[in-house]
Amino acid sequence: MGIQITPSVLNADLSRLADEVARIPSSDWIHVDVMDNHFVPNLTLGLPVFESLAKATDTPLDAHLMIADPDRWAPAYAEAGAGSVTFHAEAAAAPIRLARELRAKGARASMALKPATGIDQYADMLGELDMLLIMTVEPGFGGQKFLDVCLPKIRRARELISAAGLEVWLQVDGGVSLETIERCAEAGADVFVAGSAVFSAEDPDAMVRELKAVASG
Ligand code: DX5
Ligand code: ZN
Repeated sequence: MGIQITPSVLNADLSRLADEVARIPSSDWIHVDVMDNHFVPNLTLGLPVFESLAKATDTPLDAHLMIADPDRWAPAYAEAGAGSVTFHAEAAAAPIRLARELRAKGARASMALKPATGIDQYADMLGELDMLLIMTVEPGFGGQKFLDVCLPKIRRARELISAAGLEVWLQVDGGVSLETIERCAEAGADVFVAGSAVFSAEDPDAMVRELKAVASG
């Protein structure tokens, strides 16, 4: 599939979501951060807003659910038109069952790991996933500093995916910028979330293209 950039709208003007998304046509996906004030100490948006945004753009939506009880809530995002739905490993009661349900509803199934969650315990279920998200900040807020301590896990995840002969995409999220994206790509990531780097740029769409160029080497 190659390198993909999925800007996060968390730091966009949330009163004008559809307009903000229209400013970044070079994006491969739009990353939508759903937070519930339980799994993370922040509250963003939920299903009604997500559904409206799905109708307002042709760019596929990448839902990142930082919520408790994703087993109960995640399938509705697939039904609402998400191209990809990411739940957190730390929050899911039955991740394999949930991944299968998401795929059955027509979405790509993805699982996220917080910075201190190891990958090895999930090695045998990678084939159930279309994407693995390695968080490179503690989830909850945009604009945080990239955690270099997560780079070995990206490398390890890429090794596990390759060794199993799988096509699982490897996404990184948190502090991704022109300064840090090369390290992530070199470690084996191929899908890059960038929030503040894109929306604080003078020309957000040019930044999307620039990030892609740097990640592509
Ligand atoms: C953080 C979110 C990220 C965030 C990224 O919990 O999951 O998607 O918006 O923002 P930046 O790129 O500013 O770290
Ligand atoms: Zn995110």
